[in-house]
Amino acid sequence: AEALRIGIAGLGTVGASVVGCMTDKEAELTRQCGRTMALTAVSARDRTRDRGIELGNAQWFDDPVELARSAEIDVFVELIGGDSGAAYDAVKAALEAGRHVVTANKALLSKHGVALAAIAEEKGVLLNYEAAVAGGIPVIKTMREALAGNEVSRVFGIMNGTANYILTRMEEEGLSFEDCLAEAQRLGYAEADPTFDIEGHDTAHKLSILTSLAFGCKISADDIYMEGISNISQADIRAASELGYRIKLLGVAVKTDSGIEQRVHPTMVPTHSVIAQVHGVTNAVAIETDVLGELLLSGPGAGGNATASAVIGDMADIAKSRPGFQHGPVFGRPAAKLKPYKRAR
Ligand code: NDP
Ligand code: HSE
Repeated sequence: AEALRIGIAGLGTVGASVVGCMTDKEAELTRQCGRTMALTAVSARDRTRDRGIELGNAQWFDDPVELARSAEIDVFVELIGGDSGAAYDAVKAALEAGRHVVTANKALLSKHGVALAAIAEEKGVLLNYEAAVAGGIPVIKTMREALAGNEVSRVFGIMNGTANYILTRMEEEGLSFEDCLAEAQRLGYAEADPTFDIEGHDTAHKLSILTSLAFGCKISADDIYMEGISNISQADIRAASELGYRIKLLGVAVKTDSGIEQRVHPTMVPTHSVIAQVHGVTNAVAIETDVLGELLLSGPGAGGNATASAVIGDMADIAKSRPGFQHGPVFGRPAAKLKPYKRAR
C-alpha cells in the first residue's frame, strides 16, 4: 500500500514527541498498519529552533493553513493549541480540503467540535481526537466503539494531569502550590496558559466532549458549573486528610430526570476510594452504564509521550482504514438535554 502522508502543525511538547515516536517506532507502525506513515510536512513558529527530532525531508510551512491545504498530505495533525486562530483556521481548512484530521486540542473541540465534525462527515474524512481527553487513556475509543448499546448514567473522574500533580505533591511533600505548578509546566503537562488547568477550564473542555459522547448532548462547556483548585491551601489538604479524605479536582456528568448535569470542582474523596489512589499526572475516568456496569480507566493524563501515544493511535487508525470509511458520527447525536447545575445550600 502507498505511504500515508502526514503533515504536523505544532512541534512543541506533543508534536516533538509524536515525531520522535514516528521515527523510533517506524518499523513497528509499518508492520501494524500494513503501510508506512511518512512525515511529509511540518509547521511551527520558529524554524531555527533545535527540537531534538529528525524532520528528514519534510517540507516546512510557516503558515499551518497552507500546510493544511497542501496536496502533499493525507492527514493533518493539529498540535498547536487554542480554540481559535491558527489551530481553528488550519483544522477547518484541512477538513474542507478533504484531509483527515487528528487533533489533541480539547479547547478547539469543545468550542467548534460540532461544526468541524459536520464538515468531516460531509467530506467523508475522519476527525480523530483521542488525545484531547485524558492524555494517553483510550477513553474516546471506549466511548465511541467499545460501549455500543450501553446507556451511560454517569461519567466522572480526574481529567487534568497538572491539577492532580499539584494536589498530589502538595499533599505528599508539603510543597507550595506555586512550586508544584512551575514543575508541572517544566515537565510539559500544563497548558500554554496554566489558568486553564488550575481554574478548571481544561477539565470542563474534556468533560463537555465526554458528555456529548456519553449522553448524546450538544458539546457545551458553558453549561458546566466550574470551580478550580487555585484557592486550595496546605491547611485545606491537611484538614481533609485528618477527616480521612483527599482533595481531587473532578469532572462529573450525571443523568438526572430533568437533564444532564455537568460540574467541575475540587472534591473530598475518601482516602480508601479508588479515585483517591490516582496520583500525580495520572488521570482516571469512571463510566457507569446499564449493560457493562462500572468501568474505570486510568493512566498517564498529560506529557509528551503519553499524548503522542494517543495521537499516533489515531494516525494508525487512519492508516488502517479504507478509502471512504468512517467510524460513524464524530460526536454523539443530540438525544438528551443539559441541565444547569444548582449547588446544594
Ligand atoms: P506547546 O506550546 O508545547 O507547542 C505548541 C506548538 O505550536 C509549538 O511548536 C509552536 O511553535 C506551535 N505554534 C504555535 N502557534 C503557531 C502558529 N501560529 N503556527 C504554527 N505553529 C504554531 O503545546 P503542547 O505540545 O503542550 O500542546 C499542543 C496541543 O496538545 C494543545 O492543544 C494542548 O492542549 C494539547 N495537549 C497537550 C498535552 C500535554 O501534555 N502537553 C496533553 C494533551 C493534549 P514554536 O515551537 O515554534 O513556538
Ligand atoms: N494540560 C493538560 C493536563 C494536558 O494537565 O491535563 C493534557 O490534556
